[in-house]
Amino acid sequence: MNQPESLVTLQASVHAPAYVKHVALLAWVRDIASLTQPAAIHWCDGSQAEYDALCAALVKAGTFKKLNDVKRPNSYLASSDPTDVARVEDRTYICCEHKDDAGPTNNWRAPTEMRATLTPLFTGSMRGRTMYVVPFSMGPLGSPIAHIGVELSDSAYVAVNMKIMTRMGKGALDVLGERGEFVPCVHTVGAPLLNGAADVAWPCNKTKYIVHYPETREIWSYGSGYGGNALLGKKCFALRIASTMGQKDGWLAEHMLILGVTDPQGKKYHVAAAFPSACGKTNFAMLIPPKGFEGWKVTTIGDDIAWIKPGADGRLYAINPEAGYFGVAPGTNDQSNANCMASLNRDVIFTNVALTDDGDVWWEGMTKERPAHLIDWQGKDWTPQIAKDTGAKAAHPNARFTVAATNNPALDSAWDDPKGVAIDAFIFGGRRSTTVPLVTEARSWEEGVYMAATMGSETTAAAAGQQGIVRRDPFAMLPFMGYNMSDYFAHWLALGDKLAKSGATLPKIYTVNWFRKDANGKFTWPGFGDNMRVMAWMLERIEGKQGGSEHAFGTSPNYADINWNGSDFSEMQFQSVVSNDRDAWRAEMKLHSELFTQLAHRLPAQLSATKATLEARLNT
Ligand code: OXD
Ligand code: MN
Repeated sequence: MNQPESLVTLQASVHAPAYVKHVALLAWVRDIASLTQPAAIHWCDGSQAEYDALCAALVKAGTFKKLNDVKRPNSYLASSDPTDVARVEDRTYICCEHKDDAGPTNNWRAPTEMRATLTPLFTGSMRGRTMYVVPFSMGPLGSPIAHIGVELSDSAYVAVNMKIMTRMGKGALDVLGERGEFVPCVHTVGAPLLNGAADVAWPCNKTKYIVHYPETREIWSYGSGYGGNALLGKKCFALRIASTMGQKDGWLAEHMLILGVTDPQGKKYHVAAAFPSACGKTNFAMLIPPKGFEGWKVTTIGDDIAWIKPGADGRLYAINPEAGYFGVAPGTNDQSNANCMASLNRDVIFTNVALTDDGDVWWEGMTKERPAHLIDWQGKDWTPQIAKDTGAKAAHPNARFTVAATNNPALDSAWDDPKGVAIDAFIFGGRRSTTVPLVTEARSWEEGVYMAATMGSETTAAAAGQQGIVRRDPFAMLPFMGYNMSDYFAHWLALGDKLAKSGATLPKIYTVNWFRKDANGKFTWPGFGDNMRVMAWMLERIEGKQGGSEHAFGTSPNYADINWNGSDFSEMQFQSVVSNDRDAWRAEMKLHSELFTQLAHRLPAQLSATKATLEARLNT
């Protein structure tokens, strides 16, 4: 059958393969190409052959080093520009029509104003480069919870990372068909190659913009090639834009890992847990139960993002929209996360870790013994002595690995299930040296929403800026909210209400803090595998089989309520991680007040009422 001429013409104008029949997609690619003026257009099919060829080209360009193929088969190391190493929150914008809809926690610009700023920047921004057309599905192909995006990027590094992090290529276009909806994502490193100029290993631009238009569901990213700034399926789509889709359509896009836990009787639970960036989500998602927990099994569904929709049975079903892990390397080792280390044995892209003399990788905390010599993440010689003298880190603190979920030996059998998994418990955890106890069970959905909404955490290297500062990070979503934070709280409350009214049992909500420190600045709680002890308590609470003590903020376990098999953690040590210091909490409540003042305009009255009740409890 003859194709309509317009389709054939469109396909030809953007060098699209014949299987691309989506007229709106073709027209959009043509428009962006005429704006950014790339030298070539490459439609990614997502095949292994394509991945291998792009990686080889990146090696040739000096962006990648191929690692020792015996020690680390099919793996590469990229070193970024030293100014392009993390998400840039102060350059991230939510551009909806009304400032109030972005809310006080987001950078806002009116869409017309932002478009006027961006158009000159994107004009000709891909000159001399190839524009990659990267179709991807966030979530299992064809899942009713999944959505399609297409990223146009002038970075081959982005294309190969997207192959690992998403279901990328022809399969996503097949789902899209001729008329399906997709989120358009435009990305440029902002470094056109004019008049045949030579390229650099990591092109980027001092000027950066990470821009979201929620009303038209578009993403435009300029100037950075790194992580969440550039892999637009992740934070930009799966959190910021998806959160606005969820608000409209009654579901949740969350900064949460998803794991399965199977108890020794074979009963399986699913837990979704929100922690700020670089607070151990990947470790928790791949947890290996400690000694004394024989018969328990933890399996990974996702390590960073959850899309959660109510099912017909009133339960909340979650999928991991991603297909890989973009995890923090420093601190990862056989003790902290043996499953992760095994995942990294082959087929990995490392960014900003150090190179060993035998062509392998190393990062701080990987081994007890430090190598005698390395090339650091900036290409300089590194020795333990240099580190001592200058403080130089071999790996950047936000150095990352990109690896397919299928490399994970603890991958859950349902990780790719289009239906998702039914959530039994939500966990919210910040990084807090003081004040917040090891674990608290909320007495109600509302109290859980309050605790999540007021969560504080010490900042990490995942974002550019000062580290170790306590900031409020509601639901661990502060950098990832696509709309007004108060409306988001209301959305959680309304969803809980609706499910409760339908007669459903809501997931229980817990807050945790693995990061309390003693007077010498040492972590008091062993963390990692021992977090299983806390999770087992939660699951037994769900079954109504475990005790606890009620306090002002909810219920925490007594020493005797936790399974200490195989552990010598003493009752005194336990007290130091679960205690609630009234003065510290009074000071903490002042910070909650500050947050509520900032968010006052649309803050749900239920949260102020919950606060008043908690304060009254604290003062009795
Ligand atoms: C991430 C982050 O990359 O949260 O997952 O920064
Ligand atoms: Mn994250």
